Amino acid sequence: MVVTGAGGIGLAVARRLGAGRPIVLADRDVAHLRHGAALLRHDGHVVHEVPTDVAEPAAVAHLAATAQQLGVPRVIVHTAGVSPVQAPPARLVAVDVVGTALMIDAFADIVEPGAVMVCIASIAGALTPLPAHDENLLATTPTKDLARLTILDPKHLDGSRAYGVAKRANQLRVQAAAVPWGRKGARIVSVSPGIVATPMATAEFESPSGSVMRQMIEASALQRIGTPEDIAAVVDFVAGPNAAFLTGIDVIADGGTVAAMRTVGASLEDLVSVG
Ligand SMILES: NC(=O)c1ccc[n+]([C@@H]2O[C@H](COP(=O)([O-])OP(=O)(O)OC[C@H]3O[C@@H](n4cnc5c(N)ncnc54)[C@H](O)[C@@H]3O)[C@@H](O)[C@H]2O)c1
Repeated sequence: MVVTGAGGIGLAVARRLGAGRPIVLADRDVAHLRHGAALLRHDGHVVHEVPTDVAEPAAVAHLAATAQQLGVPRVIVHTAGVSPVQAPPARLVAVDVVGTALMIDAFADIVEPGAVMVCIASIAGALTPLPAHDENLLATTPTKDLARLTILDPKHLDGSRAYGVAKRANQLRVQAAAVPWGRKGARIVSVSPGIVATPMATAEFESPSGSVMRQMIEASALQRIGTPEDIAAVVDFVAGPNAAFLTGIDVIADGGTVAAMRTVGASLEDLVSVG
């Protein structure tokens, strides 16, 4: 299997799905990558570390080629990403939008029947409705031209808007890839977590949007933060044989946060402006 992102969700996914198969683990932060790989090896996993910046086409191509050399990748889970406090809007577009598109393209070229790709999006995508015209452009624009779309122009984006548009783009890209992947006998799904206790969420809690996040958890149906294991369990399901008829969809795993926000009629932007 291939896992991008040696962070909270990536490592939980690797632990849950990685037994009995080599794990190709990719991250831009080499110290982080080494540490994550060491933790997995300590648990008995076989790990190949591939330093990779998913925003770089050559690095993503190298990752796919390395995975292919080790055997046919059966499960590819793309969790690498940045949030608004971790990167300015231009970098967020490069990593979260273009990086995800590069990953989908690179692995589309090498997948074989039975393979599954899971891209981690976010409920921020579900909470960022966009005009149909923009959704169509985000879904279908060739990856090399994506960053030039007006809707992704950093001049018009603050951090939280950039993240919401990026995560909506992830869901749309996965939907648009379903047919070409299906023609190869492969599936592709996105999973949209709510707020999950990882280093990314910790960084966001310490930022001005931390109070909005606390309000979202408090308003949610289950009134708790998610664990990385909650998300790994959903990834395990969508990547597994019981989900053989699922492709091109987004699965929201958020303890009922979106449900609560839709019920009370508050949008993410309402909460952000309140917060
Ligand atoms: N934690 C949450 O509350 C939450 C909620 C919704 C969605 N998500 C999404 O889940 C995914 C995983 O997040 P996490 O919570 O595990 O965060 P995390 O910060 O623990 O892990 C993210 C990892 O991605 C790596 N990374 C960042 N930029 C990269 C790049 N350009 N190339 C390669 N690796 C890069 C980081 O070094 C880090 O190891 C992200 O896509 C995030 O947007 C997280």
